Amino acid sequence: MSALYSVVSGVSFYVPEKIVTNEDLTRVMDTTDTWIQERTGIRERRIADVNTSTSDLGTLAARKVLEKCGKTPRDLDLLVAATLSPDYYFPGIGVQMQNALGASCIPALDVRGQCSGFAWSIATADALLRTGNYRCALVVGAEIHSRVIEFSNRGRNVSVLFGDGAGAMLLERGKENEPPTSHNKVRGVIDSLMGCDGSGAEFLAVKRPGTARGFKEFISPEEAEKKAYLPYMEGQQVFRHAVTRMLEAAQTILKRNGLKAQDIDLVIPHQANIRINETVREKLELAPEKVFNTIERYGNTTAATLPIGMTEAEERGILKPGALVLTLAFGSGFTWGANLIRW
Ligand code: UT7
Repeated sequence: MSALYSVVSGVSFYVPEKIVTNEDLTRVMDTTDTWIQERTGIRERRIADVNTSTSDLGTLAARKVLEKCGKTPRDLDLLVAATLSPDYYFPGIGVQMQNALGASCIPALDVRGQCSGFAWSIATADALLRTGNYRCALVVGAEIHSRVIEFSNRGRNVSVLFGDGAGAMLLERGKENEPPTSHNKVRGVIDSLMGCDGSGAEFLAVKRPGTARGFKEFISPEEAEKKAYLPYMEGQQVFRHAVTRMLEAAQTILKRNGLKAQDIDLVIPHQANIRINETVREKLELAPEKVFNTIERYGNTTAATLPIGMTEAEERGILKPGALVLTLAFGSGFTWGANLIRW
């Protein structure tokens, strides 16, 4: 009998066609291409049109990965989706994608891990596949940030960072007799790590609408008028914690699998700021080519950054079957996560 574990069968992504460059942003707010590139590494991002929802982007990415793997939605028996920008407050995008894809009446979970959402979703799907109750899981990360941020001076510290997009991964039950470990060559998810420190929730959040203490209404007309639903972010706090936690996550997962950073073939980190990733890379003493970044062209697509990175790394021939991959993520919450995968 084969061991219970999961294998990455494929990964794909979909981004809207419309490109918004840093130069475009200088027309609507006081910013410069130089400021954005030097502080973040971003040159451009994608923006979805008004007739596209987050679950639509997720569905498009999902269809691409299903086609790539020669599967149909009816082959799925689990869907795990991550987003912080759902179509509706409830239900989540998982159920909407189940319907849009025409999948069977499978469980469709939404994972609320923000920028760690995809790493947490891999961990969740992998754990469920290891129960033996599921065989074929679709993992999706999708975001439309452009409708939740303000393209003006007030929002410029946040709005220049984010982009719209979606990515999808197919995880299937493995067929080997032994599960993947850091020391054999079996393809699959070896280990995942998830963590959070909720005392960081105040540093990066959309606090309204909601049921927070002291507010009579989910959102009042006055609050809506003032756009109280825009994200609040203390960038330097987020930056500092991101470096610490991504590094810690890497060191913990490496150590418990008997690995050194240099044993990893490719790190696919979340894309929030090129300087965060460079600092983590330097502290791990990794060569530049061991860390794959896509922030330059897509900005921070939150739950979609990891599958976008994986797909592009594959398409450029940098990520090959058999490679030992480490994902690293950090986001609002604060949340963090890592996955160790034999590709
Ligand atoms: O996935 C998790 C999501 N978020 C993050 O990981 C964000 C982490 N934080 C960061 O990436 C950085 O903190 C930012 C890129 C957001 C900001 O960079 P910073 O080096 O921390 O800049 P700062 O906030 O200290 O601001 C420096 C200056 C300020 O002006 P003064 O006070 O020095 O005159 C800001 O008002 O830059 C100004 N500023 C801008 N200038 C031009 C803020 N946003 C902009 C902008 N264009 N878009």
